[in-house]
Amino acid sequence: MDATNLIQSFRIDGKVAVVTGAGSGIGRACALALAGAGATVVCADVDATGANRTAAAIIEAGGSSSGERIDVSHRDEVEVLATRVAAELGSVDVWCNIAGIMVEGPVLDAPEEDFDRIIAINLKGVFFGCQAAGRVMTAQPGGGSIVNASSAAADAPSPNIACYAICKAGVVQLTKSMATEVGKHNVRVNAVAPGFVLTAMTGRYFVRPDGTVDEAMRNAVVEPMRKHTPLRAIGEPEDIAASVLFLASDAARFMTGQVLRPNGGVAMV
Ligand SMILES: NC(=O)c1ccc[n+]([C@@H]2O[C@H](COP(=O)([O-])OP(=O)(O)OC[C@H]3O[C@@H](n4cnc5c(N)ncnc54)[C@H](O)[C@@H]3O)[C@@H](O)[C@H]2O)c1
Repeated sequence: MDATNLIQSFRIDGKVAVVTGAGSGIGRACALALAGAGATVVCADVDATGANRTAAAIIEAGGSSSGERIDVSHRDEVEVLATRVAAELGSVDVWCNIAGIMVEGPVLDAPEEDFDRIIAINLKGVFFGCQAAGRVMTAQPGGGSIVNASSAAADAPSPNIACYAICKAGVVQLTKSMATEVGKHNVRVNAVAPGFVLTAMTGRYFVRPDGTVDEAMRNAVVEPMRKHTPLRAIGEPEDIAASVLFLASDAARFMTGQVLRPNGGVAMV
């Protein structure tokens, strides 16, 4: 590959991408990045308003997109979406499993319902996405790229997020296991494990119901994170989207079963 082709390989012009969790935060940034790099992006989220808002932003910027309401914990909905996108748009080249939730609390007190809920969305939801996308991708000539959202929580244990960390560690093992099975069909499966990123998920500690920010609480949450991170920074959604775009593109054509860690250095594995 010469230098011009190498640079071009970071673009994904003409590809069809599905991003779950595209209505907010990291998923939204991924959808915008993939569209900016040339893909038609299906923005999927249980929050239809958020999904449509992201799709509208892509179209406003000159890209091609649509919003879809989907609950990733419902296998049939995920299957239908993958099959329909392939039929209507011709292929599913990129599938990003970004949708997720947080459930907090110590192991000793964790209610079974909380555990079931987070497993259903953060682990089974990713599993269903991998299955649905993998079935389409292994049957199409060009193969495809699947990118899953893990977390630094899978690398560095900390109190009160065990259920979340279990899911994110499971996503890593799913990513590696599936990569061994589908590589022969030119389907790549990789993951990103972000560090602390300011989004609705993390902002709930200091964003009031009316949308205003409790600055004292914000500093109390964010400053220790920042100081604890080797780069003395917290992440922005685009920092994660950059890794996702790379893994989605042909620039990563020799990578599968890998975990990229845009985390400011907070965990080095
Ligand atoms: N923000 C961080 O610091 C951080 C760090 C590491 C990993 N992550 C992971 O990145 C991903 C995105 O997180 P974020 O911070 O952007 O959160 P976010 O809350 O801003 O976005 C999550 C999105 O997922 C959607 N979603 C939730 N349940 C769903 C379901 N059942 N079906 C479909 N969509 C659903 C939500 O509606 C929302 O739009 C998550 O998997 C999260 O665990 C986040």
